[in-house]
Amino acid sequence: MNIAIFASGVGSNYTAISNAIKDGKLDATINLVVCDKENAEVIKKVKKDNNEIFVFNPKKFNSKSEYEKIIVEKCIEKDISLIVLAGYMRILGSTLLDAFPNRIINIHPSLLPAFKGKDAIGQAIEYGVKVMGVSIHYVNSEMDGGKIIAQKSFEVNDRLTKEEIENKVHEIEHILYPTVIQKLIQGGLK
Ligand code: GRF
Repeated sequence: MNIAIFASGVGSNYTAISNAIKDGKLDATINLVVCDKENAEVIKKVKKDNNEIFVFNPKKFNSKSEYEKIIVEKCIEKDISLIVLAGYMRILGSTLLDAFPNRIINIHPSLLPAFKGKDAIGQAIEYGVKVMGVSIHYVNSEMDGGKIIAQKSFEVNDRLTKEEIENKVHEIEHILYPTVIQKLIQGGLK
């Protein structure tokens, strides 16, 4: 099963997925990585793994559909069955969504539908919630919308710093994402 990972930043989830494959816990091949930030940290990690990466600057295109068409072509060329968004900070347009219906998933650091968008952890801390978590969901045209596939929660208290909470979120993400991808693949991506 060939997968594509889309990322814009650090790429710790990219690494977690890549390691799960290397450890034999995930029956997939990362055939393509797509990155919309020319200086993102994830690029070095992908190159070190010798995986193929397409880096682009959205500002150099006239429209979202223009660069999404190129991405779709690359995904088809690489025989991609599942697109995994891992910190990709862009809302997908109809060009990508229509080309891969029910084949695009995302991970978000909150218990959706609460705290969509940027700095979800900061929003949750500000609100004073006592239970936080991670969600994995199918992607649609709404930001952090789409049917939820899996969630994992944990309890927080006022003594925890934002950094400690972020670490906990990442710890959960790095186990949950490869596990969910493996289950989707085993289930035949229904
Ligand atoms: C993760 O917390 C993910 O939930 C969110 O963006 C972050 C990406 O982190 N969508 P990384 O680039 O995988 O380290």
